[in-house]
Amino acid sequence: MKIVLATHNRHKVEEIRHILSDLPVELLSLDNFPEIGEIIEDGDTLEENARKKARTVYDLIQKYPPMAEKGKSQNILSLADDTGLEVDALGGRPGVYSARYSGENATYRENNEKLLGELGDTPLEKRTARFRCVISIIGNGVDEVAVGEVPGRILSRERGSNGFGYDPLFLPDGFDISYAEMETALKNKLSHRARALEEAKKILKRLSAQKTSSD
Ligand code: IMP
Repeated sequence: MKIVLATHNRHKVEEIRHILSDLPVELLSLDNFPEIGEIIEDGDTLEENARKKARTVYDLIQKYPPMAEKGKSQNILSLADDTGLEVDALGGRPGVYSARYSGENATYRENNEKLLGELGDTPLEKRTARFRCVISIIGNGVDEVAVGEVPGRILSRERGSNGFGYDPLFLPDGFDISYAEMETALKNKLSHRARALEEAKKILKRLSAQKTSSD
């Protein structure tokens, strides 16, 4: 079974490769399909965006000559993810808009500053939030979704310099260090993306067993 990861992001590809390394699958990314550009994420939910990305890539790869050979594309799946930070005191924002919270092409710093500004002096116990990662898997007759969440709280100032995005402001439940104060290996082990990928792995194992028994 081949899986095309609907991303150009090398870090994501490596993280996914690592977590799925014990599955009997061949992983490809959009680097293998240079003609497929960025896919506009204009859905109202994380699930809509993830499904749109996976569906678009699945449909496009059917047109690639090596994949389009009769029968071959039956064995291909496309996998896409979308992530958001949902803050309870802000009614779930930035959520699906996490990447462009303070505007199109916003930097991580600008987004973090906006988040701190909006939360103002809200006390820590009311700064509850969660990272939510949604993964969509699309194939011939396949449309599956896996979700991973990590609950936590938003700090009142940045802490740590590892990671990216909202990491310096996110204090996961059960820890007294932020995502950005963690070693990469620890964050990658407990993150929302890792949890969603573990769920996705169960789905992929099931699909691969179904496929083997129908061969
Ligand atoms: P994406 O769907 O993975 O591209 O994530 C959308 C946005 O969510 C990113 O631009 C980041 O701002 C934020 N984000 C996603 N994953 C993480 C994470 O692991 N740590 C911090 N911020 C993240």
